Amino acid sequence: MGQDDKASRRLDPAVDGSGAGALVGPLRDVRDETEISQAPDGAPRAQQPEWRRDFPIDWPIDQYVARRDFAKFLVLTSGAFAAGQAWIAAQDLVRSRRTPPPRLRVASAAALARGSAVTFQYPTPHDPCLLIRTREGELLAYSQACTHLSCAVVPRLEEGVLHCPCHEGFFDLKTGRNIAGPPPRPLPKINLVVEGDDVFAVGVDERTV
Ligand code: FES
Repeated sequence: MGQDDKASRRLDPAVDGSGAGALVGPLRDVRDETEISQAPDGAPRAQQPEWRRDFPIDWPIDQYVARRDFAKFLVLTSGAFAAGQAWIAAQDLVRSRRTPPPRLRVASAAALARGSAVTFQYPTPHDPCLLIRTREGELLAYSQACTHLSCAVVPRLEEGVLHCPCHEGFFDLKTGRNIAGPPPRPLPKINLVVEGDDVFAVGVDERTV
């Protein structure tokens, strides 16, 4: 290896911008000058383009984290965390101020035979739901949109389940909970109130478990 090659690998005290003759910053702990390569133009690191300083090829410099960089990282992660918390708080506020769900008459209780079901839309005309009267006479209502990919579920009263034919998803008829197949959550439950012969939907119980 020639003298020129050795000279080209020699550490430049100004390579990290100190220019004071001492190795500082990322080069402070370097014992072997062959660990550090020089830029093709031979200029000190401080004079190199930003991309070359941001993506160093030498291990010691790549591993080095300056105090300022570490502080920047802490500030950014703390800021992201605070922004996330603020977003959640804002969502809670918006949700709490939402108008209460409407009260909607969905059926006549007497007209709904045991072991049968009817469809209705609630709380908007775009939300299909099922009102079910079990064989025991209990009234139950759920959103008809499967919690997997929103296919319409179909009641199978004799089996005690709601079936989604798209991907063979199953929900328990009595609770609406997902019991088999890909659906990740229970069906939203529609809260009912019976007044005389009238069955009213009065709210939606969104559930995650
Ligand atoms: S949409 Fe119901 S299981 Fe996939």
